[in-house]
Amino acid sequence: MAAERGRDVLQRGGSALDAVEAAIRVMEDDPTFDAGTGSVLVADGSVELDAGLMDGTSLKVGAVAVVKHFRNPISLARRVLEASEHHLLVGEGAEAFARAQGFEAVDNRSLVVVREQALYEEFLAGTRKASDSFGPADTVGAVALDAAGRMAAGNSTGGVSFSLPGRVGDAPLPGIGYGAEDGLGGVACTGWGEHILRVGLAMRALQALERGLDAQAAAEAAVALLSQRVGGQGGLVLLDASGRVGLAHSTPCLAHAYWTERDGAVVSGTVAGR
Ligand code: GLY
Repeated sequence: MAAERGRDVLQRGGSALDAVEAAIRVMEDDPTFDAGTGSVLVADGSVELDAGLMDGTSLKVGAVAVVKHFRNPISLARRVLEASEHHLLVGEGAEAFARAQGFEAVDNRSLVVVREQALYEEFLAGTRKASDSFGPADTVGAVALDAAGRMAAGNSTGGVSFSLPGRVGDAPLPGIGYGAEDGLGGVACTGWGEHILRVGLAMRALQALERGLDAQAAAEAAVALLSQRVGGQGGLVLLDASGRVGLAHSTPCLAHAYWTERDGAVVSGTVAGR
């Protein structure tokens, strides 16, 4: 569904940035994922959202963190990129910016789904900890290459379960959770932000492309480094400048979907078995 939305945007002549935003909005609105509606709860029982995206042409970035009252933080991130002089706004400042830009504020409770509330009750009862809740429906991300050769990538997340309020992981940070550069590639990461931060995972994947590895080999090299250096749990989706796809993960699985002109149809699945 998200890949189809991104494909539709590109087929209508939209930009890579448009496609990334559109695809991520679908996943933010889908309660399956840890992004937007359906996100995990932090230790005080609220939802805190982070998102970021990068335009590979200008190398401009827009990102927000610890946002609590907006459904689609990826669209706030894009507005930061396009309508502010800054790259990352957090907390009350990000929310004030969103209101000033005309985004509709919502009650934080409207982002909470029954599944996550039940897990939070177990956390309060002492029968569940954050690592028990680490599953296949984690942070969402998207990467796109448009007909003009423009590359974009972005991420959106509710973070990790039961974290301290105010915790920020990799997802809104360029070069860490995502990155894009025309003529090189684009990447979006998922997994445990504290691990991903320590190795600068997105930049590692782009550097592997720079060294001449193909998309799949670059994805695998970056994730191997994450595993070897910090025992990290993570994964990534990568596009090279020719639109070839790389997928790698050290988590038990990596749900993904992509469309290319070459394939002509959306390819989707869950890579498992690591
Ligand atoms: N990967 C998202 C986070 O750790 O916040």
